[in-house]
Amino acid sequence: MEVIIEQDYEQMSKAAARVVVRTLNEKPNAVLGMATGSTPLGLYQELVRLHREEGLDFSRVTTFNLDEYVGLSVTHPQSYHHFMYENFFQHVNIARQNIYIPSGTTSNYRSFCEWYEQRIEELGGIDLQILGIGSDGHIAFNEPTSSLSSRTRLKTLARQTIEDNARFFETADDVPVYAITMGVGTIMEADRIVLLANGAKKADAVAAAVEGPVTSMITASALQMHPRVKLFVDADAAGELQMRDYYQWILKNKPGAPPS
Ligand code: GLP
Repeated sequence: MEVIIEQDYEQMSKAAARVVVRTLNEKPNAVLGMATGSTPLGLYQELVRLHREEGLDFSRVTTFNLDEYVGLSVTHPQSYHHFMYENFFQHVNIARQNIYIPSGTTSNYRSFCEWYEQRIEELGGIDLQILGIGSDGHIAFNEPTSSLSSRTRLKTLARQTIEDNARFFETADDVPVYAITMGVGTIMEADRIVLLANGAKKADAVAAAVEGPVTSMITASALQMHPRVKLFVDADAAGELQMRDYYQWILKNKPGAPPS
């Protein structure tokens, strides 16, 4: 995992946006894996700015979102459908038919999950997956003890996640108990991954994910097994990393182009 420590949230978001830009420059019809939560908001704002001011083109891009709450309609203000349209999709030139978000209201979850996995495969897999991390170390809604080879499925949320996300709802009782989520195994098949974390609240989860053992108790730790992960953190989220100096040393001494 390449650990990139930025001084603040804005720098972190801009650095992650540059990875997306590079991906789209290399492959204008890239398949992007999208995340929700407060963490990627700055990244999405920067991508919207780049679209408006510098013509960053999403017309050939396809997206797959990680997860959705079960029981929330697409128009519910706390649904991830609503979040994505409000904060990103409606501000860029992405084709509606190229947007995939798990359904929280399907009548058959099992076949929906199979279809979702199949669509990812049919479109050639995810080129770049964006991820946040829960305070209990989860990615998407793969709560502690999720199988590290899990696929898209229904998942019961942990109390910690319900409490963390209660701030978006009127009360904790309004937070759905179930979600539909890509599995850890699904995420691990992405060609490249960008993981984002900011704030002191994420410092323990980040340290466990990067420097702890690979364990289903911290599903983000599975990313240690992925060859192309960039972790962008702000200084607060990096606060518990023991090898912090080393990560900065690596970046400072990154080899340039070999002499010709
Ligand atoms: C939810 C989402 C995750 C996200 C996490 C952290 O659990 N399913 O994808 O990473 O929240 O959210 P936040 O960025 O708001 O801290």
